[in-house]
Amino acid sequence: MDVAVGKVADYADPGRRVLDIDGFEVAVFRLGEDFYAWENLCPHQGGPACQGKMLPLTTEAVNDDRTSSGRTFSKTAVNVICPWHGAEFDIRTGKHPMGRWKLRPVEVRVEGGEVLLKMPARLAR
Ligand code: FES
Repeated sequence: MDVAVGKVADYADPGRRVLDIDGFEVAVFRLGEDFYAWENLCPHQGGPACQGKMLPLTTEAVNDDRTSSGRTFSKTAVNVICPWHGAEFDIRTGKHPMGRWKLRPVEVRVEGGEVLLKMPARLAR
């Protein structure tokens, strides 16, 4: 079952909307022209992972002598941070940086400027 969740222009870039669709919480993220959707359920302890802050992926270059060259902020990778205990997830992959956890994906696509979700089969009535 497809569910329309707004027009492309309704979403900030980068941005997100957290939706409750008949008790199923899903977050739809926009990064540029790409959309991603994840269940709003943290694999750590069930927190609302997708409602936390969105921050660019931060990396720190380390020199051969183990000193820092400073931090850089990605222009393409954005993480969302679970508000309960701070686990971060890459909005594009749903993965925790250490590969420990992964958000559950929801199929999302754009047709004619409309953002559509395909509801998981387990929710079909
Ligand atoms: S429930 Fe999300 S980090 Fe613990």
